Amino acid sequence: MSGGPSHSPFPPFSVGCAKFEAMRYFLFCALSTAFACSKPQSQQVTLSSPDTQLQAQIFLTADGTPMYRLLRGETVLIDSSALGLDFGAATNGWEWQGVQTDSIRETWEMPWGEQRVVENHANSLALRLRSATALQPNSKQDLQMTLHFRLSNDGLAFRYELPAQGKDSVLYLREEHSAFNLPSDATAWWLPGDWDINEHLYARSAVSQINALSKRNHPNLAQTHIPHNAVLTPFTLRRADGIHLAFHEASLVDYPEMTLGVDTVNLRLHSILVGSDNTPYKAEMRLPFKTPWRVVMVSENAAGLLASRLIDNLNEPAKLADVSWFKPTKYVGMWWQMHLGINSWEMASGKHGATTARVKALIDFAAENGIGAILVEGWNTGWEHWIGFEDREGVFDFVTPYADYDLEGIVSYGRAKGVELIMHHETSSAVTTYDQQLDTAYRLMDRLGIRAVKTGYVGKIIPKGEYHHGQYMVRHHHRVIEKAAQYRVAVNAHEPIKGAGIRRTWPNVISREGLRGQEFNAWSSDGGNPPNHLPTVAFTRLLDGPIDYTPGIFNLSLKPHKPNNQVNTTLAHQLALYVVIYSPIQMVPDLPEHYRGHPAFQFIKDVAVDWEQSRVLAGEVGEYAVLARQERGGDRWFLGAITGYDARQLDLPLDFLTSGKKYRVVVYEDAPDAHWQNKPAAYNIRSLTLQKGDRLQLSLAPGGGAAVSLEVVD
Ligand code: NOJ
Ligand code: CA
Repeated sequence: MSGGPSHSPFPPFSVGCAKFEAMRYFLFCALSTAFACSKPQSQQVTLSSPDTQLQAQIFLTADGTPMYRLLRGETVLIDSSALGLDFGAATNGWEWQGVQTDSIRETWEMPWGEQRVVENHANSLALRLRSATALQPNSKQDLQMTLHFRLSNDGLAFRYELPAQGKDSVLYLREEHSAFNLPSDATAWWLPGDWDINEHLYARSAVSQINALSKRNHPNLAQTHIPHNAVLTPFTLRRADGIHLAFHEASLVDYPEMTLGVDTVNLRLHSILVGSDNTPYKAEMRLPFKTPWRVVMVSENAAGLLASRLIDNLNEPAKLADVSWFKPTKYVGMWWQMHLGINSWEMASGKHGATTARVKALIDFAAENGIGAILVEGWNTGWEHWIGFEDREGVFDFVTPYADYDLEGIVSYGRAKGVELIMHHETSSAVTTYDQQLDTAYRLMDRLGIRAVKTGYVGKIIPKGEYHHGQYMVRHHHRVIEKAAQYRVAVNAHEPIKGAGIRRTWPNVISREGLRGQEFNAWSSDGGNPPNHLPTVAFTRLLDGPIDYTPGIFNLSLKPHKPNNQVNTTLAHQLALYVVIYSPIQMVPDLPEHYRGHPAFQFIKDVAVDWEQSRVLAGEVGEYAVLARQERGGDRWFLGAITGYDARQLDLPLDFLTSGKKYRVVVYEDAPDAHWQNKPAAYNIRSLTLQKGDRLQLSLAPGGGAAVSLEVVD
């Protein structure tokens, strides 16, 4: 079979290449004799993707630097780029020890997700290296390292493995030096490389124009730290030839998050790990150790990025085999009321939201509308002293309800009506307090049969000097995941670390925030999330997995509660988000009075939350996204289309439907005069009967959308 790993000489380096590693190698060659460049075959290897479209060339420079290059046919996607780990000890470079190749072909099932069956097909290569110089000055032990590469049709991944070796059971990493040299400028959608938060708006610019430092000091962020001109991942690019690349990581378990430093002159991206002010190193590596995968997703269009399961595939198979106790669901909440300022989290305010009576009324509303769960924020003691205080350890209590909230009574009231409670644990980033209470808090949930929790990490991390995205917090989140799994609890983290596909290994990790969510529309001072926010998120943040965005605001003007804020989309756009922005838990956040009597509420009642398969029908980053998803365990389809600033006409072939069946199609769409600036945004509902092979025309207003349900009629 062609396409497997093969040993082959490389095409010559382009002399015009300005990237410094390639230049360094080129100069070395130029200054040495020609013989120095005719490196032995064993020092270079080529890996092909299963469809042979992509090639990764992996080699050592004469000074022992491991490098790689990524090509698609003749097209260079990533020019020669160096790899390395900096332990602060001088090495004389690496020696090539040997290569092992393999291929992976498996299918696995998502217990819940965008699709049931996932294909994983890749060719892999492990390159064993040793450093010629001892790592420790007084040690005779050489350093062993294996570089792992995987190439699938949708992209390249590589990671570093350090086997157990000699006396060095722990290594302290100063920095990871993984580079991604771009051969030419490209259009980028980026978030600044903030060590403490993801809740920025996306910027669009050429890579050469990225200026992350300009995003410092945003007034609405509870914590922010942008030390370098770097970007967060997933980081999506569109090249001039239309090929899309997205840079990310997978299997983030015990390591800091990676940001990508941007050298705007040389078009060089390079790993900058999130650090800590409390240690001179960025990662403590207890050997044997594997770093997360560094991933370059490749697609000929934006849609292909979103359809890829590469990030999930690069994670270990499930360690938590049975997660059947978690059921994907929609949920209402005692939540938007607080962001609108109608109620508050703290009891002392006199307008406490989480009272037994208010929550029971919300449960009634959920039950009337077939919504299976309720989130209640502000139920526990501590909210009087959470934000704006330095001393937050020991304040929140995760087992003690406020006096006006009957926790056990609420759980049984809800259960009798088919509405499960979602627990809320806002930690205010007092991490030690949460760690100390984890067992008690999750034990209480288990006793009451509460199977999901929303966690939150607002504010600067305590201990001071740690950051939300550093190794300290990655380790914390993993303690939470494992403790939650022990008590059959599913976790939806806000102000989280990246997902990086961990849901494959720990399917009790159900959703997360990690972006600028709907809440900013209620109180941000910069005009709220612009109409192109979600069409950008769909091809950037969503590559990291499920998002708890909390779509579905109907009172878009937010009047009378927030006269100076509004939601910058149409109502049909809000509906479509239930399909476009995937999460196995989808909030129905607006006040019940804003849904009651609204014909469009029918779509929210109908839409599924767990999918047999998903199709990305069309889209461009920041412009629009159109997805169709088939519900799991049924044959209904739902289609969502959102657009940014521009109005858009869509003419969609319904070739995903089952042939021979007729479908009743209900379209919720923008009225002709709808516009994201006009409130209320008018919509129309129409029904038609269609079948496979038919086409569906949709007309989207500026900032608009369309939501469609398709149900078999015979
Ligand atoms: C920030 C979360 O994103 C939001 O959803 C929550 O309401 C507040 N923290 C309070 O926990
Ligand atoms: Ca948040």
